[in-house]
Amino acid sequence: MSNEELDSRLGPLSNRDRPGKLVCVRLREWDPATASAEEIAGWLDLYNDVMSADLPDDPRWNDDQLREYLVVTMPDERRTWWLVQDDDGTILGYAGLLVLSDLGVLELYVRPRVRGTGVGRFLLRAVADQAATEHFSSLGVEVVGGTPSATFYSSYGFGHVYTEMRSILSLSTVDWAHVAEMAEALVSGYVVQVHEGDLPDDLLPAYAEAKQVRRANPTGDMELRPSSYDTDRLRASLQCLNQRGLRPYIVVAVHERTGVVAGLTELVVPAQHPTRADQYDTIVVPTHNSYGLGRAIKARMLLELREREPQLREVQTWHATDRQELAQVNKELGFVADREWREYEVDTDELASRVSGA
Ligand SMILES: CC(C)(COP(=O)(O)OP(=O)(O)OC[C@H]1O[C@@H](n2cnc3c(N)ncnc32)[C@H](O)[C@@H]1OP(=O)(O)O)[C@@H](O)C(=O)NCCC(=O)NCCS
Repeated sequence: MSNEELDSRLGPLSNRDRPGKLVCVRLREWDPATASAEEIAGWLDLYNDVMSADLPDDPRWNDDQLREYLVVTMPDERRTWWLVQDDDGTILGYAGLLVLSDLGVLELYVRPRVRGTGVGRFLLRAVADQAATEHFSSLGVEVVGGTPSATFYSSYGFGHVYTEMRSILSLSTVDWAHVAEMAEALVSGYVVQVHEGDLPDDLLPAYAEAKQVRRANPTGDMELRPSSYDTDRLRASLQCLNQRGLRPYIVVAVHERTGVVAGLTELVVPAQHPTRADQYDTIVVPTHNSYGLGRAIKARMLLELREREPQLREVQTWHATDRQELAQVNKELGFVADREWREYEVDTDELASRVSGA
């Protein structure tokens, strides 16, 4: 679709919005590293506008370390951004393409009041052109259940590959005495360590070894949120999280006799929405299963957060819908299923033909 064609589709809607005003839109590549403070604020305004429409119960974001959040990636990753703005500079939509080796991961949001006018397709075409230039074989995207995204992506040939359920724990509902019992019910032979912000160097090799378990038991997802399996990548990953304003907390169960990391649970408290934490990996190494380690370390994490992050109200976690082990622990802690998070994938040649032919 040409820029002109998009203008003509947006015109009537925008004119209804602001009678008598001719509205033009333009698409351009955007670099949040050099963007003005006003543009960063404009991005935040768009993001919160989208959240209000699609995830009204989620906390709104603030601008704390927001530029760093948008700019910083892992050393071997990079991200390209595009904006669609109207003639006043208001951001109507944005797309981001994160490149992880030969896989591109897309995010694309359009302001609710201009949806259905072609902005999404306009942005998707820019992403498809870039993907073709870079010769990716496929593009992945996370689609939030109950939003218009599933229909949008399906209409461009994206196929559903994997589903996770998001669950939310409201800390006001937690039975803290029970959680303390869960944390204390640790079998002998293991010791629990709590780390905030970083991991000590001497723990990194054992920690990376434990993370290999996820590799050996693939969940079936496309690794849109990849784990770090070696010490250098782990170190880089922790540094990246801190720079992006995502404060990491890690609770590990160490097997005393061997020194191996038998279980771990990771969580971040984002500066951009510090009342809601994001759970990352929880792993119990199979030879240490059935001792209640997962239960004990997740309970301990909650107790630590209560002390160290008094502003925290909720924790959100995602787990595969066909995996019951952690679902049981989460239920006992008080997590409540919220909505599905689905991964979609498209072959880039297929996408290119669909967006240009649409
Ligand atoms: C999905 C999204 C990007 C679509 O953007 P958009 O600008 O409205 O899409 P377009 O107007 O370019 O539509 C392109 C095509 O997608 C399809 N489509 C888009 N929205 C649709 C809907 N609600 N119902 C049915 N089809 C839809 C149509 O096939 C449309 O083709 P058409 O123009 O021939 O009718 C937009 O709704 C959005 O930003 N959603 C965010 C949802 C989300 O994930 N929120 C949570 C994160 S905080």
